[in-house]
Order: sequence, then C-alpha cells, then structure tokens
Amino acid sequence: MILPIYLYGQPVLRDVAKDIDATYPELKKLVADMYETMDNADGVGLAAPQVGLPIRVVVVNLDVLSDSMPEYKDFRRTYINAHIIETGEETVSMEEGCLSLPGIHENVKRPTKIHVRYMDEDFNEHDEWVEGYLARVMQHEFDHLDGHVFVDRISPLRRQMNKRKLTAMVEGKTRCDYKVKSYKK
Ligand code: NI
Repeated sequence: MILPIYLYGQPVLRDVAKDIDATYPELKKLVADMYETMDNADGVGLAAPQVGLPIRVVVVNLDVLSDSMPEYKDFRRTYINAHIIETGEETVSMEEGCLSLPGIHENVKRPTKIHVRYMDEDFNEHDEWVEGYLARVMQHEFDHLDGHVFVDRISPLRRQMNKRKLTAMVEGKTRCDYKVKSYKK
C-alpha cells in the first residue's frame, strides 16, 4: 500500500524517533509499504517519520543507481533502530534532495565515513563502518530519525533562497507526482 509522504512543516519530521522491538505491530507490513511508497516516488531512501511514524525504521534502495555504481546491484536494505556512533573526519559536499521536500536540491557537506549500529529486518544486530554513496544516504535518512532535514544543514543564504518553496510545502501548495500530506490543508 502506498502511504502519503509527510512534507516539510509536519511536526513528526521534527520528532526524535524511538527504537522499537520485534513486538511492534505489523512491522513486516509497514516495511513492505515503505518500500512501495519509496519506489512509487522514485526515492533512494525513506524514513518512518516521513510516513508519519516517529520510530527508527529506514528503507534504502540503491539498485536504481547500479548502472553507474555496479556495487549497488540489488541493494535494498532495511535499517531498524539505526544510530550513527561516530563519523570520520573527512567530509565531502554532494547534492541532496528529499521526498519530504520536493523540488529542492542543495549541496550538503557530510563526513565520508560513518560508524553505524542497526538491526536488519530479522532483528540481527549490525555494527559497521560505511563509506561511499551508502554513507551519504544513511546520514540523510538517519537524520530524519533525529528530527533533522537536509535544509537544516545548508547555509542560511541558501535556505533563504528556498524560502518560497518551503512555505508552499507547509501550506500545502506544492505540486507533486506522489501522494503527500502537508501540515496545513
Ligand atoms: Ni529525506
């Protein structure tokens, strides 16, 4: 089932999401719905707060990039109770977008390597260092779990340049190809 994507301005995007355990009701269905919602909107990642749930669940699909990045062939992963433990010192600037902020694309500077801890769909624990494009996507998605969106990480000037678009999102005046839920309206 395709879920509506909550747009910038929705308070749930500012919540710090909570860890869950295997008793979380209908988790398998939620994860399946999140993949369907992400695929329908042509996203590479989706965090549960973006479908209105303040829990630490993220889905990622990098297979769509595998023509240019073959290492991500068939790469579809679910991250539960995801946390960034530490980051490397080197940073890189890269353009990002977000399904909750349609029409905005800005460069964001982030560490190139991160140490993450999470559980997979079967609640097996993972603890690893990640780099490359996946590290970028994880940082963007895990930010959602801590109440951050990528425009929090751009300069005040760039944010000002996007103010009209951001206001339109809050007010429900953004046109979008997929189903969304704005704060007003
Ligand atoms: Ni996002």
